[in-house]
This record gives sequence, structure tokens and C-alpha cells, in this order.
Amino acid sequence: MKIAIINGRVIDPSQNIDGNFSILIENGLIREIGHFKKPTSGYEIVDAKGAIISPGFIDLHTHLREPGFEYREDITSGSQAAVAGGFTTILCMANTNPVNDNASVTQMILKKSKEAGLARVLPVGAVSKGLKGEELAEIGEMVEAGCVAISDDGRPVMNGKLMRHALEYAKTFKVPVITHAEDLTLSEGGCMHEGKISTSLGVTGIPAAAEEAMIQRDILLAKLTKHHLHVAHVSTKEGIEMVRRAKLEGLSVTCEVTPHHLTLTDETCLGYNANAKVNPPLRTKQDSQALLAALNDGTVDAIATDHAPHSEDEKNVGFGCANVGLIGLETALPVLLGFVSKKQLTLKKLISLLTVGPAKAFKLKGGTLKKGSPADITIFDPNRSVTIDPEKFHSKSRNTPFTEMKLKGKVLYTLYGGKVVYDSSLRETK
Ligand code: DOR
Repeated sequence: MKIAIINGRVIDPSQNIDGNFSILIENGLIREIGHFKKPTSGYEIVDAKGAIISPGFIDLHTHLREPGFEYREDITSGSQAAVAGGFTTILCMANTNPVNDNASVTQMILKKSKEAGLARVLPVGAVSKGLKGEELAEIGEMVEAGCVAISDDGRPVMNGKLMRHALEYAKTFKVPVITHAEDLTLSEGGCMHEGKISTSLGVTGIPAAAEEAMIQRDILLAKLTKHHLHVAHVSTKEGIEMVRRAKLEGLSVTCEVTPHHLTLTDETCLGYNANAKVNPPLRTKQDSQALLAALNDGTVDAIATDHAPHSEDEKNVGFGCANVGLIGLETALPVLLGFVSKKQLTLKKLISLLTVGPAKAFKLKGGTLKKGSPADITIFDPNRSVTIDPEKFHSKSRNTPFTEMKLKGKVLYTLYGGKVVYDSSLRETK
């Protein structure tokens, strides 16, 4: 199968390319980027007129919920949501049932994602057996089976000694440890950020210190073990400052931030909006501004969605009892492009944080349009107006705080391994 993508503006930060080029794809790989006369025979033409052609986006943080919670999402529906949002590679967290703490669960995830054939799904194995924080999981086995990182995400590793051992083992197997930074003794009982809004709502808050104390502990452990720590979903001003200082010190520390922490604050919880209940919680304007500054100064390696599907029943039970999490794969691009239209972030930087940034952080293949690489490509129109309508999502879940927002930016086509897996004009995948 041969495809020619024509008429678009190619932006590939990995090669410092920004210009009007065509791309030729053959046998699933990028054959050439350049100026060609319209290829006449043998090529299927994808017309990217007025659109941006970028490497396929990489999301370091999703929850696909399979096995165990398929009513919220499964590997196929999550992959469909991913490619509809422009993501061709997604890392899926271990908090499934059974937990991905052994090779057989890892193998099952890889098998199902291959059958779906829509996106590169890379499993993240658990740090501890059953995410209980007591005993290390089968890290070596899981890495051998295909896990690219380990994390108890959804829960912190409260025991510092266990976290130290996790870093030491992960070092042997050359995979990063992703920390979900939360001191449970400080966050216990909390439903949202602790501040004026939580007080006005009469809801128990989670102080910023609950996250920051754990980020600092884990940075110290990264220093002690000389191994790669990745800080997930950093949400506070002081937390991102800790990562900045660790990087300046030369430690092997990377981090991600989410579109929701960048664009929303705890005010979104007003009216007891359960779709704004997420962990870590939405913080203050000062925090989100500090995260934006950290995108621009290089402190942040990647923007990751923390796509966390929950059913309507799990959200419509009152703010206090509602599950935590929100979905993000299908809203990330338009939400983030707001920074570009306000000139707070360049388009090149944004694409870099969704492509080469995450690829480099985790030493993953992809995130580039280099000749010979798999043709994982996202084509989007940054100016197309969209109104967020969860009924149109490919995800099985609807728990988004962005409903009805009028934004700009639409994915037109997504290619994975040289195949068009999403075409917005068909609203279909594969
Ligand atoms: O909001 C969240 N939801 N944060 C997490 O860390 C876990 C996630 C989930 O699994 O629902």
C-alpha cells in the first residue's frame, strides 16, 4: 500500500522541519518528505490542504480499563478514542482488574491491542503486586513481556523503601519508574484542591503539599539510586519547581503535565461538578500559570492526558462519592491549541510536547517523521471550530469537564503504521 500526503504544512520538531512538503509512504514506513509532483499512479492520495501534518502523538498516560472495567473503556474503544484525538502511541496504566503486575496480563493487553490494530499500545506494569504497596511486582517478567515503564498510578507507593527498591530493579531492566505523587496521610478524605473554593463548597480539600512532599521524596530516591524517575501529572507550582531544580542538578528526572491542569482550576468544581473531580485535583490559576511557564522553559517533557474513563453511574452519585478522573484523548488537541492562538505557546513547541518530547523521555520509537520510521502521522486543522460534544466521542465514557466548550482544532486523519486508522470525514476507524 502506497500513500502520498499532499498539500499540507509538515511540522516535525524532531528534525526541525516546518514547511510545505509532501510525504510518501510505502510498506508502512515513511519513504520520503519533499517536494514532489503529484504522484500519479499507485498512490492513494490524502489531501491535507490547509492542515498540519505532524508525527503521530504519543500519550504517556492513559487508562484503558481492560481487563476488568470494560464497561468504562476497553482496548479497542480506547484505541479508537486515541486515534480520533491524533494519538498513535498510548501507554496504559496497570490499575486494571486483574492488575497488570505479571507477564500474562501484559501479554493479553498486547495481544488485544494488536488485534484492534489501531494504535501502538504500550503497557505500564505495576510497581507492587496488586498495587498494594507491599511487595514488588514481577518487574523483570513484565519488561520482558513488553512493559515500557512501571507505576502504581492511581495510588502512590507510600513505602519509601519499596519505592527505592522499585527504582533499583527498574534500573536493572532499563525502564523508568512513574510516580503518582501523593502522600495519602495528607490527602486522605479529600475530594478537591484545598483552598477557598473547597471551603465555600464545604468539601474536604487536598493540600498542594500532599503532592509536593511525595515529588520531593521520589526525587531524593532518584538521586540515591541514580535511576530515571518520571513524575506523572504534576499539578502545583512548587511541584514543578522541584522538577526544575532536579533537572538543573542533572538528575534523571522527567515529568508530564495534563491538558486539564494546564487549562482549568478548582473553580470548575463549583456546583459540585463531578466531571472536574480528578486526582491530583484541579488547582489554582497560579499553579496552572506555573505549569504553562514550565512548558515553555523546557521543564516539562511531555503533555499526557491521564485519560481516565468512568461510567455515568460512577460520576452521578454526588461529588463526595464520585470516582476520580476525566477523559482526555479526544479533547487534548483543541484544548491545548488555545495556548497557540493566544500566543502563549508556539505550535512547534506544542507538537514537540506531544511527539518527540514523550518519545525522548521514555526512549520510545516514534514521535518523528524521519525517513524509514513507521508512518504514524497526525493531520489536523488548527483553525477548524469545534464544540465539544461527548455524545460524539469514540470513548465508551463521557466524563469530561470540557462539554459544550467552543474551541478550535480538529484531527482530520490519523495514520498508524502507514494505514489510515481515522478519517474524520467518515467518522470511522480502520
Ligand atoms: O483522576 C485520576 N483517575 N487519577 C488517577 O491517578 C487515577 C485515575 C483513574 O484510574 O481513574
